[in-house]
Amino acid sequence: MNQEKANDSYSLSSKWYTDKMYFEKEMDQIFLKSWLLVGAESQILDPGDSLFLSIFNQPIICIRQKDYTIKTFFNICRHRAGSLKENINNKSLVCTYHGWVYSINGKLKSPRGFSKSEISIKDLCLRKLNTKIWKGLIFINFCDNPNDFETLFSNVEKKLSPYELKNFTFDRKVSYKIKSNWKVYLDNFLEGLHIPIAHPSLNNVLDYRSYDTKLFKNFSIQSGRLDDSKSPYSSSANSYAYYVAIYPNILFNLAPGRFQTNMIEPINEKECYVHFEYYFDSICKKEKLEDISFSDEIQKEDILICEKVQKNLQSIGFDGGIISGKFETGVKHFQNYIKKNIS
Ligand code: FES
Ligand SMILES: [Fe+2]
Repeated sequence: MNQEKANDSYSLSSKWYTDKMYFEKEMDQIFLKSWLLVGAESQILDPGDSLFLSIFNQPIICIRQKDYTIKTFFNICRHRAGSLKENINNKSLVCTYHGWVYSINGKLKSPRGFSKSEISIKDLCLRKLNTKIWKGLIFINFCDNPNDFETLFSNVEKKLSPYELKNFTFDRKVSYKIKSNWKVYLDNFLEGLHIPIAHPSLNNVLDYRSYDTKLFKNFSIQSGRLDDSKSPYSSSANSYAYYVAIYPNILFNLAPGRFQTNMIEPINEKECYVHFEYYFDSICKKEKLEDISFSDEIQKEDILICEKVQKNLQSIGFDGGIISGKFETGVKHFQNYIKKNIS
């Protein structure tokens, strides 16, 4: 009998976490159509400043324009697929293969080796991607007709008040490579049931009895009250931690004084990266370092769990699990999202 259909308390079966075919479907049907967080706009403040990134093996450049908007292009030269780099005075992009030169707005300026009458310059711009800025964060979408950005993110914003995300300043990026399917990491993020067992120091600062999960269209928010006397976070009138998951792969961790984004980047069906970006308000350097070290400790505990779970999912001794209707509603919500979006 098909467990996924037979009972709503069953989890996705193991093949969703181990089979390349499912991974490829997720890439095509979810990731290449979703809004993806790629960084902070404060990393590229001046015209010509750029972020060179590879996401899902897609090479891209986010670049600040003369009018201060941000555009994103594939970092692939239209001649014969060379890679571009910034030139020294920041006013153009130069191909490292045969030296074609592009303006920062993506237009081909100088097709070395070709006369301008030989090729159609205007048809050889860098390929552009959809880009949105929200609260100082840069999002891109690989799809030409992307789904609605504003509705999703204005709903997230409404639910996150009283936090004012724009008050936070980018501090640093830290990336982890994890030997687990990206959904193992998400499933783990989406429930607090494991906190008293797997995260003793987090459990010490979080009032587990106050832990709550709220579900919305394409995102969920978990929250828990913090004990100010033990917490590494600055104290405030609103001493709550919020854990937001915007499907498929954007996480926000909020606590007084700090805002942290996580972007989960699947590598293949058995590995993923998790990119942490830390933002702070006016807290001092010592508090920042304490926060980063605390977060690193929790992350390492989660990585150990996720890597063990992945190995066990690959065993012939397990084909699917059970989800608590009380403590793991976020996991069920996310898994339903996955099933709904994959044909
Ligand atoms: S591939 Fe870029 S100039 Fe040839
Ligand atoms: Fe955890």
